[in-house]
Amino acid sequence: MRDPGRAPEGVTVRRGDYDDPASLREAFDGAARLLLISSPELDSARRTAQHLAAIAAAVDVGVGAIVYTSFLDADTVPTGMTEAHHATEQAVLRSGLPYTIVRHPFYGDAFVPRVSGGELTSSTGGRGLNTAFRSDLAEAAANVLTGEGHLGRAYDFTGPVWSYPQVAEALGVPYREVPDTGSGPMSRLTAQVRAGALERQTPDLEQVLGRPAESVVSRVTFHRPAGAR
Ligand SMILES: NC(=O)c1ccc[n+]([C@@H]2O[C@H](COP(=O)([O-])OP(=O)(O)OC[C@H]3O[C@@H](n4cnc5c(N)ncnc54)[C@H](OP(=O)(O)O)[C@@H]3O)[C@@H](O)[C@H]2O)c1
Repeated sequence: MRDPGRAPEGVTVRRGDYDDPASLREAFDGAARLLLISSPELDSARRTAQHLAAIAAAVDVGVGAIVYTSFLDADTVPTGMTEAHHATEQAVLRSGLPYTIVRHPFYGDAFVPRVSGGELTSSTGGRGLNTAFRSDLAEAAANVLTGEGHLGRAYDFTGPVWSYPQVAEALGVPYREVPDTGSGPMSRLTAQVRAGALERQTPDLEQVLGRPAESVVSRVTFHRPAGAR
């Protein structure tokens, strides 16, 4: 982390900043396996430079293996949303280090549907979403880091595909499709959902977890307030 002073008491941390290569070499020194979580930097060129600095530092100090959290389709799509992930995957492959690439779907945490006025609405066209929760993706990453048989592989993680109408049915409320009037990132994402771009499902996450990944439908019904409609 960038500020070790913020670490919980009793947890050993090393300072590491993607923008400070020397700090990365010190942080990675002696690591048997390194989990490189993609940077939250929004500028693609800066984000790529940060990831490449981390990979260079990992090579310099000779970490035993690198696990990188990429995004679905980053292997084949070098532009747009997956630009930095594609460049990073290529750099991981070029590094010569033993590696595992874990490609993430969109996080389900951002999508937990909420009933309002007794109904559930969305602009998703009733199509499926292959989101996964960060808790499951974190557990899968821990399994990859600590388990055997994962090196030299790339996993395409998806959660169980769900839809807003399915959630409405599980909650016992009506579903209504509404027009998307926005123009921000969420609207672009909803347009992708309507086009069916998030309906791919793979067995990879379930296999690495050794159990089914948590579904949005079960999380929503589990947390349903008593008497809510
Ligand atoms: N698949 C998806 O739907 C989705 C959605 C959101 C994000 N993501 C990706 O997944 C990553 C993790 O997401 P998250 O929600 O866990 O992010 P988050 O809670 O915002 O955490 C980001 C972390 O990055 C660290 N960080 C930021 N700049 C850094 C730098 N220059 N050097 C070192 N560390 C730095 C921050 O550390 P400090 O404590 O030092 O600030 C913080 O711990 C994101 O960074 C993004 O690439 C994916």
